[in-house]
Amino acid sequence: MKELPKLELHLHLEGAAPPEVIRELAAEKHVNLTGIFDETGAYRYKDFVDFLRVYEAACTVLQTPQDFYRLTRAVLAASAAEGVIYTEAFLSPDFCGGRDLVAWRDYLAAIEEAARDAEAADGIVLRGIVTCIRHFGPDKAKETALCAAETAGNFITGLGLAGDENMGAPKDFAYAFDMAREAELALTAHAGEWGGPQSVRDAWQDLGVSRIGHGVHAIQDPALMEALAKAGVVLEVCPGSNIALKVYEAWRDHPIDRLRRAGVPVTVSTDDPPFFHTTMSREYENLAHHFGWDLPEFAAISDTALDAAFCDAKTKTTLRAKLDATFGDLS
Ligand code: ADE
Ligand code: ZN
Repeated sequence: MKELPKLELHLHLEGAAPPEVIRELAAEKHVNLTGIFDETGAYRYKDFVDFLRVYEAACTVLQTPQDFYRLTRAVLAASAAEGVIYTEAFLSPDFCGGRDLVAWRDYLAAIEEAARDAEAADGIVLRGIVTCIRHFGPDKAKETALCAAETAGNFITGLGLAGDENMGAPKDFAYAFDMAREAELALTAHAGEWGGPQSVRDAWQDLGVSRIGHGVHAIQDPALMEALAKAGVVLEVCPGSNIALKVYEAWRDHPIDRLRRAGVPVTVSTDDPPFFHTTMSREYENLAHHFGWDLPEFAAISDTALDAAFCDAKTKTTLRAKLDATFGDLS
């Protein structure tokens, strides 16, 4: 599985931080992170809200652009080792200088430098999706969207919305998303991870996104599935994340295969891999084991991800050639 070329559209940069990197930074900066790791050294949390708390605690050691350089190199090295050739990472100005535009540019420069170095070392390509955090509220989201709009270009290609889906409604973030659309950024929002089908409709209709983060509860509404399929709205599905956070009890209960069979465009990502004890290869292994996915299905999700990727045509052509070299006629 590691050999297969993979595209990942839904990865939170800080959420992908290997615990060792966070521990090293904590030691260097004398930050006490007692309680966020278990006895094996993995992140420890009880449920989704606690996961968000632990995530934000880990972020407190990411204090400088240089820290983000280290983080980005570590994350991309880990992804490349799993066969990932293209990643879109959610980047948070909230954790990069508190949404101050001048500071954000410095953090972004460090992340981009790490991306260039990783591409030269391992061939992996990174693009950034600036991400509003829902439970920080709409006003902060406007500042985040301004950071996104001011730095939109070849590297920053999208705006996203993550965080606690139980707080507020997508329409509260319409101003931020309008600002991003005017800056010609592509758009995605987490929805239907915790909320039902209506939350997916709301994010789609009220924010005008072309992709939905998770969106798995669309499975409860056949009319919505048909509409998503018809409009080509792509779901960034993260099955291992959903199981770790107990959105579904077990792999066999996960709707990804039923969504795919219903014609909804699905892709596969890891979300926050060390938190969920997953990797892209592990996701593929579980999909093969539980749903019988094989080369045709992996070729199909790669095609869907490539079509839906927030990057330029030249980058897509290069990625297309890499997929073709493995999947050949299947893709
Ligand atoms: N931020 C990081 N991971 C997330 C998830 N699974 N849902 C919402 N916000 C997140
Ligand atoms: Zn996510």
